[in-house]
Amino acid sequence: METATIQTPTGAELHRKLAAVDPGAYGPEACDRHAAEIRQILQLKRERNAIVLAHNYQRPEIFEIADFIGDSLELARAARAAEAEVIVFCGVHFMAETAKILNPERMVLLPEMRAGCSLAESVTAEALAERKAELAKLYPDLAVVSYVNCTADVKALSDACCTSANAVRIVEAIDSEHVLFVPDRNLADYVQSKSRKQIISWDGNCYVHHQITPTEIERVRNSIPGIQVLAHPECRRDVLALADAVLSTSAMMRYARESAADKFLIVTECGLSDRLLMEVPNKRFFKACKLCHYMKMITLGGTLDALRNLRYEITLPDEVIAGARQALEKMLELGG
Ligand code: 13P
Ligand code: SF4
Repeated sequence: METATIQTPTGAELHRKLAAVDPGAYGPEACDRHAAEIRQILQLKRERNAIVLAHNYQRPEIFEIADFIGDSLELARAARAAEAEVIVFCGVHFMAETAKILNPERMVLLPEMRAGCSLAESVTAEALAERKAELAKLYPDLAVVSYVNCTADVKALSDACCTSANAVRIVEAIDSEHVLFVPDRNLADYVQSKSRKQIISWDGNCYVHHQITPTEIERVRNSIPGIQVLAHPECRRDVLALADAVLSTSAMMRYARESAADKFLIVTECGLSDRLLMEVPNKRFFKACKLCHYMKMITLGGTLDALRNLRYEITLPDEVIAGARQALEKMLELGG
């Protein structure tokens, strides 16, 4: 993936675009400040031979500096194909680690090291090794499938990784009838509802999606006739039961663009609804209004500092890279 030529917007252009998302947060003065930072970031990107990869949950102004915006699977593929010397990852820590693992020759920078993930924190390599050893006695064919929302050393203990876009496909394709699925219990439940294999789940959850309740969905459905409900598989089973479609973040983008429907409730982190509001102006989007505070730690100012000072660099021991890479490559091989 080569560096793209991105035009610097003026403050007024930015205001026209971002006011659709939040008129209060993106007034003329804020947009002038953002436009000045965007100009400096684009200049530094050229000087450093850097690209910016951004997750769908990032702030709308971050989308303006991104060479590529996508879900975890698309970002992993983009990172692997990157030819620029520096990859600035506007997302969370496990995503930047994934980029480093798939393309270790590049310098990978995360603008804010505290940008973590509640799912990644819920499983350690030590706890996984212990559980795996216990279960292997019961199920000699046991395979470990780890959702990419985990640390590199957890990936290194896995047979394959998966993302929300390909979890069912990976579990079905892996050569085992017994799968220990870590760390998201809700995604494991969703996969179990689509597979005859035996899924043994870890007890982690995403604090953003797990807090969404069926009552919130029903209230919107009852008050807006004809609304389509799109939900992320990190949501609870009783929430998914009310959805018209269960999709990864980028699959929600495609579904909303292509569907004949014109009103949607987007049951995931709010950044995705912001992206839809900006890119699909002819349809109406209602937000679940949940913010991932880790994703929102990435700002234009932090990204500018990252490029200026080449920080914070993701480094991993060679043996962890090698172990985690086989699980990620297995995902790319089995999961398209
Ligand atoms: P996606 O892979 O669907 O973008 O999800 C990533 C994530 O962190 C969801 O909370
Ligand atoms: Fe992690 Fe949830 Fe934030 Fe995604 S939304 S990065 S799963 S805490």
